[in-house]
This record gives sequence, C-alpha cells and structure tokens, in this order.
Amino acid sequence: MLVLGLESSCDETGVALYDTEAGLLAHHLHTQMAMHAEYGGVVPELASRDHIRRVLPLTEACLQEANKTRQDIDAIAYTQGPGLAGALLTAAAVANGLGVALGKPVIGVHHLEGHLLSPLLANPAPHFPFVALLVSGGHTQLMAVHGVGNYTLLGETLDDAAGEAFDKTAKLLDLGYPGGPALSKLADSGDVSRFTLPRPMQHSGDLDFSFAGLKTAVLTLVKKQADIDAQTRADICAAFQAAIVDVISTKCLKAMKQTGMQQLVVAGGVGANRQLRAGLDLMAARRKFKVYYPPLDLCTDNGAMIAFAGAQRLQHCQTAGPFSVKPRWDLASLPHA
Ligand code: KG4
Ligand code: ZN
Repeated sequence: MLVLGLESSCDETGVALYDTEAGLLAHHLHTQMAMHAEYGGVVPELASRDHIRRVLPLTEACLQEANKTRQDIDAIAYTQGPGLAGALLTAAAVANGLGVALGKPVIGVHHLEGHLLSPLLANPAPHFPFVALLVSGGHTQLMAVHGVGNYTLLGETLDDAAGEAFDKTAKLLDLGYPGGPALSKLADSGDVSRFTLPRPMQHSGDLDFSFAGLKTAVLTLVKKQADIDAQTRADICAAFQAAIVDVISTKCLKAMKQTGMQQLVVAGGVGANRQLRAGLDLMAARRKFKVYYPPLDLCTDNGAMIAFAGAQRLQHCQTAGPFSVKPRWDLASLPHA
C-alpha cells in the first residue's frame, strides 16, 4: 500500500510517500523558519498562506523522486490536529480533494502519534510495548505505548513544554527563533560548571514535568550579570541544557522502572538535542534498557511520520474518516485495535 502523507500543522510543510512493503520512498520538507524569524514566533496567517504555496510542488517532488504517479497512491494521510486551525486546513483540504479526485481513502492522523511512531522508521526499530518520551515545542509527555493507538499517559508537563522552554530561554538570550537548536549549539562551547540552575520536579515522585521556573531562573541569572559577554551566554546555555537533560533523564529512568518495559523511544523536535541523546544513551547503557530515536531529519515535523502513522492505522485499526481538523485533540482518545 502506497500512502501519501501531508503535514501542515505549524510552520513546516512536509510531504512523503511511504510504502508498506518498500518503506519510505521519498520525503520533502519546506520550513518557514526564516519567514517567521523576524516576528520572533509563528504568525498563523502567514503559515497558512505559505503551506498553500508549498504543498502541491512538494507532492510533485515526492512523486518524481519515487518514480510514481498520482494514480499509484493507495491512500492519503494528513495531520488532522492538534495545531493551528488555518494551517491544518491546508493539508486537510488537499488530502480530501485528492482523495475525491483519485477515489482513494483519506485518513486524519494525530500529529503526536506521528512523532510517537516515527522511531519505528529507524533501523533497528523498537517493537511494542515501549515507553515513549515526546518532547516537542508544544508537548512534553511520557507515555506507555502498547500498540498503534493504545497509549497510556504516564506524566506530562504542568506548564511549558521542553521545546518551549528552550525557545523562550533562547529568546531571553537574544539567540533568535527558533531558539532550541541555536541554544544547544552555543551550549557546546559553554562551561557547564560555572552556573547551577534548579532541576524542577526532578524528585517529585511522579512523572510530571515543570519547566516554567527554569526559564525564570535563567532570567534572574541574566539580570544578576553585570555584563553578558559571549562566554557568559554560552555558559548559561550549558547550565540550562544540563538542567533540562538531567530532569528528563531522571523521569525517563523512573518511567522505565515503573512500567518494567525495556525500550525507550524518544520523539519530537527536542529529541534532536545531542546532549539529551548522550544523557539518555549513558543511562540506558548503565541501566540495561534500549533507547531508540527517529532518524535526525525525522525528529522535527515532517510528512514521513504522518504517512507512516496513517499506514499503520489503515492496516491495523481504522478506516478512512470524514474531512475535519481538530486544533485541540487528546492523544489518549484515539481508537485502537
Ligand atoms: O516536534 P517539533 O518540530 O514541533 C512541534 O510539534 O512542536 O519541535 C520543535 C521544537 C522547538 O521548540 C525547537 O526549538 C526544538 O523542538 N528543537 C530543539 C532542537 N531541535 C529542535 N531543542 C533543543 N535542541 C535541539 N537540537
Ligand atoms: Zn511536532
């Protein structure tokens, strides 16, 4: 089965072709980062208009790369939510229009399920059940994943998401938008021992997170400095990153112990963070569990994860659904086999 996947929930237009026999045949992406950078964040109306310009050329590029025609497509998957309503509507409208024109089923995919299942596109891939750490710009969650659509929430952030904390802290340090990758890069040249920042809720006894206080601690630290030179900025970045990595690693270990599962899967944009990967790898080696990541180019938003999740749903537990978008959508409410 050849599935076309379309993603337009935020500031990336992603398109991909996934074949259930041959694997990922093509994936193309356009990021709107540069367009939104001058506003310091995503401007929803600009995002929607840009998705409209990009989605069909990207689809054509995928078909060409995979040496396929539109008639070869067996099903179309699109991100149905959560996300920006206007942005979501682009992929939803194109998917449903194509579905009617080609007479093929169309399926709406939960964006987080896309992230959650994306490590299954890696080689070697994990198998069910596993613990998933979802760390993106909008979400920070630990889930027990029993099968496609069968997810139990173990813990989540009570305030800011991990990526949001990276972005807000980066903004505070004038590192531009989106700040996560920039902050992480600068942290590499920082002295991690110069400043110590709090580890919020690290030993709270549950699997919830809180990152808003960490951002405030950085603000207080910045205000205390007479002069923020390049080295001080890098040192603050290193301290911030170390605190986040520490908290996330501790919670992951607790989740592994609590569930008794042997595999941890990391998904979402912050999963691209090298320091986080190093921290989790070290812990996994010591505690004898395995950790899996999606390929680096599939960590942030993309069409491949949507095509893949759509294919899984069509194969295992769901038929095509009606045309709609769900800007807010609870992951635990999905149907499963
Ligand atoms: O999953 P994603 O592409 O979009 C959402 O669905 O939110 O994640 C984007 C988030 C942003 O907050 C971005 O700053 C963060 O992931 N991010 C990183 C890194 N790469 C992306 N944060 C820390 N280190 C990175 N290397
Ligand atoms: Zn995402």
